[in-house]
Amino acid sequence: MRTSLVIANWKLNGDLALVKEMATHFAGLLKDTTTTVVVCPPAVYLKAAEIALAPVNIKVGAQNCAAHTDGAFTGEISAQMMRECGASYVLVGHSERRAIFGESDDVLAEKIARVQESELTPVFCVGETLEEREADAVESVIEAQLNAGLAQADFSNLVIAYEPVWAIGTGKTASPEQAQEVHAMIRRWLRDKAPEQADTLQILYGGSVKADNADTLFNQPDIDGGLVGGASLSPEQFDAICKAAK
Ligand code: G3H
Repeated sequence: MRTSLVIANWKLNGDLALVKEMATHFAGLLKDTTTTVVVCPPAVYLKAAEIALAPVNIKVGAQNCAAHTDGAFTGEISAQMMRECGASYVLVGHSERRAIFGESDDVLAEKIARVQESELTPVFCVGETLEEREADAVESVIEAQLNAGLAQADFSNLVIAYEPVWAIGTGKTASPEQAQEVHAMIRRWLRDKAPEQADTLQILYGGSVKADNADTLFNQPDIDGGLVGGASLSPEQFDAICKAAK
């Protein structure tokens, strides 16, 4: 019913040499798979990554985009510009954007709109902090993020990523059961808001996904692949994670 999707988020890492290394490593590897593989490098490498990775069946995506289409916004890059540089996907609402750059729910809803207007696919990230989990607020926090960020979204062109903030870059992965519980909750939310897409929309897990835990995570019924940070900087690790997503 749903194919798998694995997305590499390089964050502020990587370079042209890593783009080339990925292209060399993945040559011929993704020929017979239904899994979609996407690499999100820093924006300046998008075009070079698209040229190098398209021949090995890897798409590219942006880690962020502007909430505006154009204008006096020094340093910003629009979704349309990302598209011109080869992006097919754009991450929106990553917890680092929310926490470090103060992106509000309203800004994220605007970004979702800009990405979809540009006919790119937004990957909308949600997740709770450790304090929120310990306060038993996981469901209410995730629901509030979904309601706010996706208020005007087109659910026929969307991916959702669940990334518990406490599992990002910490080496602490949510257990497959913990992750599945939240993914199932997101799918229930979808059944209410967008019943036609509830069974087809891909929901990814992110947070310390590694070659040795990817298989059990991806085997959960509502986990359709991963959003991978640190481990995506190693072609060997990332390849093993992609293989775990059937
Ligand atoms: O976007 C990716 C996530 O932030 C996960 O990062 O795999 O390094 O924990 P990580």
